[in-house]
Amino acid sequence: MNFKLAALASGRGSNFEALARAIQTREIPNAQIECLISNNPKAPALQKAVRLGIPARVVDSSCYRSGGRPDRQAYEEEVLRVLAEFSPDLICLAGYLLVVGNTILEKWGGKIINIHPALLPSFKGLNAQHQALEYGVRVTGCTVHFVTDALDGGPIIVQKVLTVREDDTEESLSARLLPVEHQAYLEAVKRLCTQNYRIVGRRIIWGS
Ligand code: GRF
Repeated sequence: MNFKLAALASGRGSNFEALARAIQTREIPNAQIECLISNNPKAPALQKAVRLGIPARVVDSSCYRSGGRPDRQAYEEEVLRVLAEFSPDLICLAGYLLVVGNTILEKWGGKIINIHPALLPSFKGLNAQHQALEYGVRVTGCTVHFVTDALDGGPIIVQKVLTVREDDTEESLSARLLPVEHQAYLEAVKRLCTQNYRIVGRRIIWGS
């Protein structure tokens, strides 16, 4: 039985594309990507999905407003409806720029993973590469983790390390980190699709 994946992205979608290609070439052997959902109708990730033959859906977060403010619950209810069509086993956030709220977490908690471009718990939130450079760390990296209601705070699945260069800028560091991210995401999804695990506290115990 194939493991069914859904991806959520807001932008470029290179992590989504790397995952989709690894699944299509069977590098991740027993998985399939059922759909890509984007909250941003202009996300290049959508075209990537179409080129890869993966159903692409837009749930435009800017259209869900109430009393002049974003209505996240209504937006997330629509995302839930789309997810229900595909009933994935795992949801992969790939450059999804919204915080996942309780409406989605109540239904899908424990089955959502994310990639963050820093070694958590350092440099949570936006612009992680910039934060790392500003702090002056000599090594940084990326983290694939489960999504919980704590921002970038769920149990860690895979981390990979990258040495910071003297002359790195935010752009060069981000560019060198990207292929490392792709590798980390593949590794994490492959493990989750092929191995048993349980979560004890914050730790993932594999093979049990
Ligand atoms: C990546 O750096 C990822 O770690 C972060 O957002 C970026 C998304 O890039 N969460 P892409 O859209 O996957 O190319």
